[in-house]
Parts: sequence; C-alpha cells; structure tokens
Amino acid sequence: MAVAFCVLFFSFTILFSLFSLLIFILRLKPWCNCEVCRSYLSSSWTKEFDNLCDWYTHLLRKSPTGTIHVHVLGNTITANPENVEHILKTKFNNYPKGKQFSVILGDLLGRGIFNVDGDAWRFQRKMASLELGSVSVRSYSFEIVGSEIQSRLIPLLSSVAGKEDRVLDLQDVFRRFSFDNICRFSFGLDPGCLDLSLPMSSFAVAFDLASKLSAERAMAALPIVWKIKRLLNVGSEKKLKEAIRIVNSLATEMREKRRQMGFSDQKDLLSRFMASIDDDEYLRDIVISFVLAGRDTVASALTSFFYLLSQRPGVEAAIRDEMERIIGRTQEGASFEQMREMHYLNAAIFESMRLYPPVQFDSKFCQEDDIFPDGTFVQKGTRVTYHPYAMGRMERVWGPDALEFKPERWLKNGVFQSENPFKYPVFQAGLRVCLGKEMALVEIRSVVLAILQRFDIRVADPNQAPRFVPGLTATVRGGLPVLVQERSS
Ligand code: HEM
Repeated sequence: MAVAFCVLFFSFTILFSLFSLLIFILRLKPWCNCEVCRSYLSSSWTKEFDNLCDWYTHLLRKSPTGTIHVHVLGNTITANPENVEHILKTKFNNYPKGKQFSVILGDLLGRGIFNVDGDAWRFQRKMASLELGSVSVRSYSFEIVGSEIQSRLIPLLSSVAGKEDRVLDLQDVFRRFSFDNICRFSFGLDPGCLDLSLPMSSFAVAFDLASKLSAERAMAALPIVWKIKRLLNVGSEKKLKEAIRIVNSLATEMREKRRQMGFSDQKDLLSRFMASIDDDEYLRDIVISFVLAGRDTVASALTSFFYLLSQRPGVEAAIRDEMERIIGRTQEGASFEQMREMHYLNAAIFESMRLYPPVQFDSKFCQEDDIFPDGTFVQKGTRVTYHPYAMGRMERVWGPDALEFKPERWLKNGVFQSENPFKYPVFQAGLRVCLGKEMALVEIRSVVLAILQRFDIRVADPNQAPRFVPGLTATVRGGLPVLVQERSS
C-alpha cells in the first residue's frame, strides 16, 4: 500500500512538474521564428553590433512606438519616456521587481533593498533614505572620498605620470577606488584595493564574479537551465555558489570585527543599521546591496566620462576654465558649495551618463494585464524593461544631435537645468529613484576635479568604441588604457 502511494505520489509530482515546464515554455515561445528572436538565439546581431544594448537601441529606434517585444525572453523593452513614467510612477504597484527577479539575484542579494518589494522594501527604503539624506552621513562620505583621493589616487597617478611605457587601466583604478570608498562607507573597514602592487581583494574578486554570473542568469532564454545547474551544483552555478560563499564569509568577518571594535559611536552604515537590527543575515543583505549600488556604478560613470573627454578636448578646457574661475589655480579640493557652482562640470557629468548610463537597462515584472500609454498591450507575467542606454540615443527623445556629447544641452544661460527624470532615468525615477544620487555625484565631481587639476589623461586608443561585458553595471571589456602626464602649473 505504502509503495503504491509513493509510486503514485512521485508519478504525480513528475507529471505536474513536466506540465508546469510545458506551460512555462509555451508562454516563452522559445521556438519563435521572428527575425528578432532568430537573431537573438543565433547571436547573429553580433555581426553588425558590438554590444547587445546597441542592437536593442537600433530596434527601438526603428519601432514607431519606441517599444519592442523579444518573444523568446518574454521581455517587453521600451525607450519611450511616457511608458517609463507609467512603469515607475503611475502604475508603480503593477510593476514590482517580482519573484522572477528576486529568484535571479536572491542568492547574492538575499533580502537586500534591490531585491525586495512591498513592506520589506518600504522598511529599508525609509531607513536608508534617513541615513543617506542626513548631513552627517554625507559629510562622512565626502571625508572618505577626499582622503582616498589625497592619500591613494593622486600618489598612484603621480607614480606613473610621464612614463610613456606605463599604460594604466583607468577603469581598473576607478573600480579599486570606488570599492575602497564604498567598503569604508558601508562597513567602516578599508580593503586598501587602490594599491596596484596588491592583488584585488578576494572580496572584490568574488563580488565581481557573483554579480556577473547572477546577471547571466537574467539573460538566459530558458531559466530552467540555470535552475537545473543550480540543483545539480555544476558549471557556472557551482562557481556562483563558491563566489557567494566567499562574499558571505568576508561579510561575516567584517560584521564580527565591527562588533568587537564596537559600533555605537561609529559612522559607517553597518554600525548604524546594527543599532536597530539584530538579524545577522538581514544585516549582511542590506550592506551587500549598498556595496553593489555604490561600487561599479560610480566607477562606470568615471570611466566613460574620461573616455568621452578624450574625444572632446574643448569640453576638458571648458571644465578647467570653470574650475580656475571658481577655486583658482590651486590643487586644493573644492568645497560642497564650490562644486554646486560648477554648472558646466555638472552638465558634462550628466551628459556623459546620458550616453553611457552605468545601469544600461532595468527590469520589472508586470503583475496584471496592462496597456502602456503608447498602446502596447502588456500581458501579466511579462518582464518589462526600460532602457536608459537606448533612450540617450533616441533622436525623438533628445533631438537630431542625440549622439553628440554636448554638455551645453543641460545649460540655460550658463545655469545647469535638470531634465524630466522619465526622459533621463539614469538614476531610475519615481518611487524607487536611486538613494545615493547626491553622494555619487559628489564622489564623481571630486575625482574629476582632482584629476583635471593635476594631470592630463590621454586615452591610448580614443577611436576604440567601448565594448561592454554583460553584467549588472556597464563595464568596458579590456578596460580604459591611458597615459598620464603631470600638468605644469
Ligand atoms: C553614478 C552612480 C549611480 C547610478 C547611475 C545609480 C543608479 C541607480 C539605479 C538605476 C537604481 C535602480 C536599480 C533598481 O531598482 O534595479 C538605483 C537604486 C539605488 N541606488 Fe543608486 N546609483 C548610483 C550610485 C549609488 C550610490 C553611491 C549609492 C549608495 C551608496 C546608491 C544607492 C542606491 C540604493 C539604496 C538604491 C535602491 C533604491 C530602491 O530600491 O528604493 N546608488 N541606483
């Protein structure tokens, strides 16, 4: 009797699983033979485009609504600002990150702010916005950035300056720089990555690998494949598990160090959160999300900024003119107030992220059937993506000169004018808009000023357009090789 029950139970379970799999596959239409799906599945788009985001941009430009649907991915992608406002604000509750997203990033991010919806998100958002909005936290972050620039970044650049044989990968420098900063800010502990003679910390290496492999899950046409690999602990899923194990053990070590050193009078985020949360796993998840948020985004923004500057020496000269007018011919850093007066610098930074947004696209999941303002029908369960990279290149959004790097478009009578955030969702927009925007801008401005005051940066191959590595944040394959010259004062 018991054996018969077991056989029946297992047969039913297997049949049910196969049926669910069939429904899932039928919804995704993996056999779809349309031109776009064929091109995606066979990767034939790579013959014409360097990057997936360039191919999507091309398709979105051709679409009369600025919206496309990739059937094999079950993914509706839009570059239409009205749709973006609809997803991120008007119908916010219908477009959560959703279970699908939290499963993809759940192993790395756990219940951290990036990976949750509803009450868990609201709670962390409230706490994080109180922290990140406070004057003391902002000046703490300004202090860390200033000390990392003075004690590490400038000495490092000086050490290679004038040496024609010393090509430096500026992207690698910025990634190390922002990793030190965000770890000092989040944990109050210094990994000391910006010492090129030292290997990247094992935390940084494991963190990179875990972000890359998690992002690859999101690009799979058949998610069931990575789920089976995870179940069997093989291939990329085995590597991901190992990378996450290293991230976790180092995060635990940092938390325990913090506990031993005492946290009540400390200014870092972990100490602040420790004062009100006892759950160790939750603390880990919260802080790991901050590391992800603040590390690669800032490094990516700085890398593309210096790449674009190498193409437009006139922009570099205009920033230097403004700098000398406001802070004089000094090598001292600028104050908050002085930075606020640098309208042209601000315009150049916003313009560079318009063409090269650090987060190139971002996805949500549709809860209930819906219709976008452009008339596109969106079926329940569809993955919906807004695409800042494509939006920055759309003539119908930015005019006929959309592809030009032109800081002037952000200025009116010399004064910086911000844009409609749904037209420029580089920091997202609406209810989940980035909480670190101001902090990130202060960090980016500080680095740009410190470098332009002292050095001339020449990109080794300015004609090489960036090719991106697939990942959560834009990272250039091969980095940004540059030559550094000390400026004569
Ligand atoms: C140039 C730098 C940055 C860019 C372009 C950027 C962009 C973004 C984007 C696109 C999102 C939405 C992501 C999503 O929901 O999937 C986001 C969210 C967020 N960012 Fe940033 N970010 C930057 C720097 C930072 C920094 C330095 C911090 C903090 C240390 C930070 C903290 C956050 C947080 C906490 C969220 C989650 C907000 C929420 O879900 O309610 N960001 N950011």
